[in-house]
Amino acid sequence: MCGIVGYIGSADVCDVLLSGLRRLEYRGYDSAGIAINSGGELHIVRSVGKVARLAERVAAEWTDALRAGAKAGIAHTRWATHGAPTEENAHPHADQSGRVLLVHNGIIENYGSLRRQLEGRGHTFQSQTDTEVLAHLVGECYRGKLFEAVSQALKHVEGTYGIAVISAAHPGEIVVARNGSPLLVGLCEGAAVIASDASAVIAHTRQVIYLQDGDVAAVRADGVDIRNLDQIPVDRAISQIDWDDTAVEKGGHAHFMRKEIWEQPEALQNTIRGRLDERAGCAILSGLNLSPREMAAVNRIVLVACGTSLYAGMTGRYALEGLAGIPTDAEQAAEFRYRNPIIGPDSMVVAVSQSGETADTLAAVREAHHKGALVAGVCNVVGSTIAREAARGIYLHAGPEIGVASTKAFSSQVLVLVMLALAFGRGRRLSREEGAALCREMAAVPELVRRVLAQDAAIAALAARLAPASSAFFIGRGVLYPAALEGALKLKEISYVHAEGYHAAELKHGPIALLDEQTPVVALLNDVPGRDKMLGNVQECLARHAPVLAVASEGDAEVASLVPDCIFVPRTGVYTTPILAVVALQLLAYHVARLRGCPIDQPRNLAKSVTVE
Ligand code: F6R
Repeated sequence: MCGIVGYIGSADVCDVLLSGLRRLEYRGYDSAGIAINSGGELHIVRSVGKVARLAERVAAEWTDALRAGAKAGIAHTRWATHGAPTEENAHPHADQSGRVLLVHNGIIENYGSLRRQLEGRGHTFQSQTDTEVLAHLVGECYRGKLFEAVSQALKHVEGTYGIAVISAAHPGEIVVARNGSPLLVGLCEGAAVIASDASAVIAHTRQVIYLQDGDVAAVRADGVDIRNLDQIPVDRAISQIDWDDTAVEKGGHAHFMRKEIWEQPEALQNTIRGRLDERAGCAILSGLNLSPREMAAVNRIVLVACGTSLYAGMTGRYALEGLAGIPTDAEQAAEFRYRNPIIGPDSMVVAVSQSGETADTLAAVREAHHKGALVAGVCNVVGSTIAREAARGIYLHAGPEIGVASTKAFSSQVLVLVMLALAFGRGRRLSREEGAALCREMAAVPELVRRVLAQDAAIAALAARLAPASSAFFIGRGVLYPAALEGALKLKEISYVHAEGYHAAELKHGPIALLDEQTPVVALLNDVPGRDKMLGNVQECLARHAPVLAVASEGDAEVASLVPDCIFVPRTGVYTTPILAVVALQLLAYHVARLRGCPIDQPRNLAKSVTVE
């Protein structure tokens, strides 16, 4: 939610900021803004819409001389929370004097009372945002030292923030701070880049410092001074980013989503690399840091997540119960955190999150810690807040996911959870042979995904039948029920076709009333437990004249004769089948969105990494 970038150094500040914003645009794209300090004066351009629009405005409004004079600047791409996406509400925001500018990602929860207090002291505001209040607060605390003013101001603030602040009086400094919203500092030779995530700094450096909650830092071209809010210095390690610039390029694909769908064989290979021990019939998950005895003491698992990650969790639940025999729940993270869940020391809470920054999932992690549970993270973004706070976990190693619609993260998450089930299962009821068979099954998945991708053209043809619909159903049973939910989510979020994911058995308890010739049903008929009952449910749909489109296992003649519009995917074991079914559904959603002319990588109203509740 919202992307922040800042730069201090001798390169073209505008270029660095605008190219950084393009990388961060997936975090929010309803408005954008940029500010530079050139010759001791602050200059701002803000605009509604995407970064491309901002870049046009900058080109038109700022002279070459002005740009050349800039040695520092900050920029922001917004996903609106407080106040509509208008130019006034776009960041950066200024303090009362106009000599301090600030960009912010997060939410200032007590901004209402702060604003009233500031207004009482004569401050006037130009926007409806919570951020402007923070800018005014910094300005009010300013006594000649920006670093101290920011630290002082933040002591009055409740909520979450990643901020970057510049001042006309301090051309050689950007002050940044974080609490609950990610921020990192990239260290270059004689320069520094700050950003919400590594994709915006990778073009300049691989050496980064991930700020932690409560940190405030003065970033200068020759180094970084990091302190806590009381201005006491803190030590933060320098980390090395282990992927390169090409990972955040489209690589010849029309969209990031398409690229990421096609990356899945490689991403899955990276997910399992070095983790499958076929000889021992086990999975090696060293990041879990649990001894066999500690694993044996776990009597309950709760998977907490949101959106696609929740559906991956729901899929993993089948594996954890089926393979390890551990009672497992998959729960929406916001529901978990506010429900006062009953969690004991023998419970393990596993937070599943691609970004590792999702606010509700993070809060669930904290709640689980309070309850004394073992807490693990299944994250993709290395060094993310959930990964760090969970303290133990399994990285996906799927590579950066830029498309707002999650794709490769889902398949990697499911594979990680099956590996987790194997690791627990071997300590309980799985034999070495059973474990070895599962290792072989998982090792084969990348190649099987490749075979699903090879059907791209056929899936595109089926998508043409779905594209004119205004509403669709996705149905599945058992391990394919979450896959139906995920298929519906993918379709609705990128193509704006209203889609409902349903358990097939639930259809006749109400939703079947909606079926007619105009309402397609996508049925997941792969050869896993529940398939036979699914055939009956498909008959029920056909009897209501609903066009049915199926995903089924290769060679299933019965399905082929019942449903001519069918995507056949390779056969594999029960717990990895959802991966193949969902890859087919990702392609289906992608092609429907493409045919409907939708902005696939940046669907309306959405943003990646939901850092607000
Ligand atoms: C949908 C999608 C979202 C995310 C959800 C959780 O395509 O991407 O539903 O899955 O916002 O995000 P993470 O996994 O980053 O916690």
